[in-house]
Amino acid sequence: MALWGGRFASGPADSVAALSRSVDFDWRLASYDIKVNLVHLDGLVSAGVIATGNGEVIRAGLKALGAEILGGKFSYDDSDEDVHSAIERGLIAKIGAIGGALRAGRSRNDLVVTDFKLYLIDHLLEIASLTTSLIEAFNEQSLANVEVFAPGFTHLQHAQPIVFGHELAKHSQALLRDLDRIGDWLVRNSISPLGAGALSGSGLQPNPESSGETLGFDGVVANSIDAVSDRDFAAEALFVMAMLGVHLSRIGEEFTLWSTNEFSWVEIADAYSTGSSIMPQKKNPDIAELARGKSGRLVGNLTALLTTLKGLPFAYNRDLQEDKEPVFDSVETLLVLLPALTGMVATAKFRTENISSGAHSGFALATEVADYLAKKSVPFAQAHEAAGECVKVCEQTKRELHELTDEQLAAIHPELKSDLREFLTVSGAIASRTSSLGTSIPSVTAQIAELKNATQEAKQWISNEVERFSGMMKP
Ligand code: ARG
Repeated sequence: MALWGGRFASGPADSVAALSRSVDFDWRLASYDIKVNLVHLDGLVSAGVIATGNGEVIRAGLKALGAEILGGKFSYDDSDEDVHSAIERGLIAKIGAIGGALRAGRSRNDLVVTDFKLYLIDHLLEIASLTTSLIEAFNEQSLANVEVFAPGFTHLQHAQPIVFGHELAKHSQALLRDLDRIGDWLVRNSISPLGAGALSGSGLQPNPESSGETLGFDGVVANSIDAVSDRDFAAEALFVMAMLGVHLSRIGEEFTLWSTNEFSWVEIADAYSTGSSIMPQKKNPDIAELARGKSGRLVGNLTALLTTLKGLPFAYNRDLQEDKEPVFDSVETLLVLLPALTGMVATAKFRTENISSGAHSGFALATEVADYLAKKSVPFAQAHEAAGECVKVCEQTKRELHELTDEQLAAIHPELKSDLREFLTVSGAIASRTSSLGTSIPSVTAQIAELKNATQEAKQWISNEVERFSGMMKP
């Protein structure tokens, strides 16, 4: 059923109906639409636009329709343009023409933004909650590996030794920032656009503050034209999800690499691996690869919306209907990806012997040589030169740094004495990194304790927000 038509001599051509139809995807907003309609109804009754008795009939009809939608008993049909028209059709079918009274004082322009914001609040909080489980999986694995030495990489080349728990815990830090961004998003975007009407507000709906508050928002958008034109909130949500997706992708890449025969650092549990249809011996890290692969669409969805918004006149334009599919896709992608990746991380078995065996290789202790000289007040640039020369001599004479003779050391720099060898151990190098962010075992242990606190705090604010907005979600 179209929500317009009075001034038209004919209905839309089939091709136009097919083009403009959004109900196949925006039906995801149905329960939020019922909720917003109920609150809008209260406003109309308080303003005397709808008589109390009629208000009761409409309220009962909306509630019954909401229950039917949740129970799968009412859905859209071929005649519906979008979720809003489908719900009005359903309401009128249920209670008669009086159902059409609800359209007073609002437009689909403010209705759709209000529904969409509710959808995003609901789903970003769900994504936040799933992300905390992934963070907890990393926290646990980090703690279990806090005494495992590993080669640290830059440019994917051995760089300096680290503890493996440090390597794993960095992912928790990145994911905590994703949670922060969801929290920031809520602070900025939890304001109600309802009452903006098509663009100028309405003479019939006097109290957007009260409807915004009843819906659970923290306030009302200040400018009605901005209220119906703003899609920053959707773009920002897409960025938050794309950034999270990029983090998941980088995690996926590491696990894929670590599970190769060449690395053999991790064994991914059978439940989180897949086989090959032709090669019976294969156990593939498909979850990690899908984490990497799916980030592409998350970034693409952000790009799609920004491209739609660029250059749009700043009011409602039908282009804005294109805001929803990228958001739904990003949300639904993360809802399937996060639990699988969390399971993969939580059940992964790290082969600590293989991880540790390479900790010293690739002259990973060359920085210790330079630091040794720097501590003797040799300017670091010279110290760096001398350490580089040590590596060169080692390569030429096929030996490790600690195997250089006293004569070879003295020939490279007079301050290089035999006590240098004490510093050329993986454990010594790691133990020396005692600053708060460094890789010494006590530093990393403290970092993980701090991470656990931060994760608990995040879980707390997420559950507070879920609680605070819960009334908003139930029709
Ligand atoms: N389905 C539309 C959308 O998602 C609802 C708003 C339609 N407004 C309009 N003026 N045609 O954007």
